[in-house]
Amino acid sequence: MNSRIVTTVVDPEKCTGCGSCVRVCPSETLSVENGIARVVGDKSLSCGHCAAVCPGGAITVKALDTSMTEFTSFSLDHDWLPFGGFGPGDLARVMASRRSCRNFKKKPVETDVLEDLVKLACLAPSGTNSQEWTFTCMSTREAVLEFGDLVKEFFTGLNKKAENPVLRKGLSLVGYKALDAYYKEYYESVKEAMYEMEHHNRDRLFHGATACILVGAAPDASCPKEDAMLAAGNILLGAHTMGLGTCLIGFAVEAMKADRSIQKKLGIPGSEKTHAVIALGYPDESYQRITGRKRPLVRYK
Ligand SMILES: Cc1cc2nc3c(=O)[nH]c(=O)nc-3n(C[C@H](O)[C@H](O)[C@H](O)COP(=O)(O)O)c2cc1C
Repeated sequence: MNSRIVTTVVDPEKCTGCGSCVRVCPSETLSVENGIARVVGDKSLSCGHCAAVCPGGAITVKALDTSMTEFTSFSLDHDWLPFGGFGPGDLARVMASRRSCRNFKKKPVETDVLEDLVKLACLAPSGTNSQEWTFTCMSTREAVLEFGDLVKEFFTGLNKKAENPVLRKGLSLVGYKALDAYYKEYYESVKEAMYEMEHHNRDRLFHGATACILVGAAPDASCPKEDAMLAAGNILLGAHTMGLGTCLIGFAVEAMKADRSIQKKLGIPGSEKTHAVIALGYPDESYQRITGRKRPLVRYK
């Protein structure tokens, strides 16, 4: 449940009454009265803006766990980085250098690295600061393969249905065109990938990844899918800086959406929805240069 309970505490000994906290608070939780910031509202997003802005360190938001910004595999400077304080060229280089990795080494990903990736994910914005993400981390190749078997089972069944022209036509006639669309768009490539997996032991689904993170969201989050994808974006970029390769696996997400029993078999409650599946591991590929991108449609008004 996305609680709006106020857990903000002001230390009157440290507060100078400057009002910075009031200015940045999105919920009117605080007000300066008689020269001291006081909690006046009955709701809070628990975003921590007040604690972050206070020059005297007078504010604590109890709902926030400070260990979530303590990392094991690298250190973080807790001073806030000012606007323009980090070169856009450096950030753009990370963004452009992150590529979907489809060749992984056999080396497993350490648990503390996975934990740090989850913490990086939680630095993403979320609708009404709900932060109601869920992460299911698979840290062994065996676990990834077992998950892969469930996804394969689903696509084997789907291809079987899709190759039946009577079924495709019949469903289309009653307005369900998805099977026919799948047949036209994906059937052949999925069939080929399944064959390669079966007969040539080539992992066309997870590309040999030794770990996987499933990013989900609780159903009552205000923007569950958006929150999950933003968190996933942090993982993709963060992983690159940590020496890891990643690849989003949309096929696994689709299988989990269509066959809810997969999620159950993975021990994830049915109330959650998985929005991103990220294959990850130590990359067995490298690139020489960054490339361009397709031109999007952009409007300036
Ligand atoms: C929502 C989504 C689903 C994706 N699913 C898959 C997938 O199932 N298998 C795969 O190999 N790549 C998948 N990708 C990776 C895309 O193919 C890749 O992002 C795209 O080709 C651009 O390459 P880049 O990530 O290296 O920049 C997916 C990407 C997104 C955003």
